Amino acid sequence: METETILGSSSGFIPFNRFCVAGTEFEYIQQAIDQLHVSGDGSFTRKCHQILEEILSVPRVLLTTSCTHALEMSALLVEIKPGDEVVVPAFTFVSTVNAFVLRGARPVFVDIRPDTLNLDEKLLERSITTKTKAIVPVHYAGVACEMEAIGSIAKRYGIPVIEDNAHGLLGKYRGKYLGTFSAMSALSFHETKNFACGEGGALVVNDPQYIERAEVIREKGTNRSRFFRGQVDKYTWVDLGSSYLPSDMLAAVLYAQLEARDRIQAARHRIWTYYRACLAEWAHECGVGLPVVPEECEHPAHLFYLLMPNLAARQAFIAHLKAHNIMSVFHYLPLHLSEMGRRFGGRPGDCPVTESVSDRLVRLPFYNDLSEPDQSRVVDAIRGFRPNSSPTPPK
Ligand SMILES: Cc1ncc(COP(=O)(O)O)c(C=O)c1O
Repeated sequence: METETILGSSSGFIPFNRFCVAGTEFEYIQQAIDQLHVSGDGSFTRKCHQILEEILSVPRVLLTTSCTHALEMSALLVEIKPGDEVVVPAFTFVSTVNAFVLRGARPVFVDIRPDTLNLDEKLLERSITTKTKAIVPVHYAGVACEMEAIGSIAKRYGIPVIEDNAHGLLGKYRGKYLGTFSAMSALSFHETKNFACGEGGALVVNDPQYIERAEVIREKGTNRSRFFRGQVDKYTWVDLGSSYLPSDMLAAVLYAQLEARDRIQAARHRIWTYYRACLAEWAHECGVGLPVVPEECEHPAHLFYLLMPNLAARQAFIAHLKAHNIMSVFHYLPLHLSEMGRRFGGRPGDCPVTESVSDRLVRLPFYNDLSEPDQSRVVDAIRGFRPNSSPTPPK
């Protein structure tokens, strides 16, 4: 079944996501091995740092073992302590929050906007207290949060912003790259992302005051980076830290993908545009929502979602596509209603938009080499579905 899909046939199973080789990965892994440097911070890691720093025009990028770990580094960098509060959207991945809770913070969940599904900036100010030590917006699907409003509120209260940019590498807001609006941001190179090395991430340090300590935290709390630059004659334990640097073999895979970014992005934008064009009429007739991209945002074609009228319709839709051998998946459950979220006081009704979107959202198959016949099979199967459009009864 898989083989048929790989050959571009339109009869096999269409997964939701698939890792796609850019072409030079194996050659680069071989080079990393031939250089006998497969631990962290070898030549491919340096190449990844350089290419990302150049693209984003930022002073420092540090590859990490995941976006989760980049967020954990950011929590250490802004010195989160027990009792501090961190403002986060309720609709996000657990790591956006857990990275700060690990340091003792209490998450303050804010609801999302019904259009972009990003932290609702109109609700931000009322969630800030004297204990707030960070604001962590997430650019969902790589569509920017209202960074002007968020940035000005944060500035007024002197609170650092950390962008969770797991989805948004190469996305822009008012012509400027996502992840460059705040003190620092976190990227993901997990298998599901536009550029992937299996598990991986990066901390993008925009504010130079954090660079040196970021290097220390990433290197087990040692000043090893200074030692390698010849700035100290031996390295030693100087601060808190952990092992957040990936193997150079993974950096080799990532570098191959980053070099192929124009081709990868062109392919992904073609798929996104095709879905949008082919589904617009059906979505309008059926009361289904499509992704909203405000004028000031350029999205990086990370994912394509539909907002079904209610939970029952979403579940029926997933089953309908499954019957056509096509996988579609929902996304985040409301974090304030998770077991951990409830321990922090989360209650049903706190974040109504998150609760509704979480029930209704479904993501379509999306990967760099999703073939045209498979794209049209997805579209045909979707157009053959009619949702029952009664709203979800209140919980
Ligand atoms: C918004 C968001 N933040 C963080 C992460 C964690 O990324 P990683 O798997 O690289 O740790 C994810 C995972 O997809 C995510 O969706």
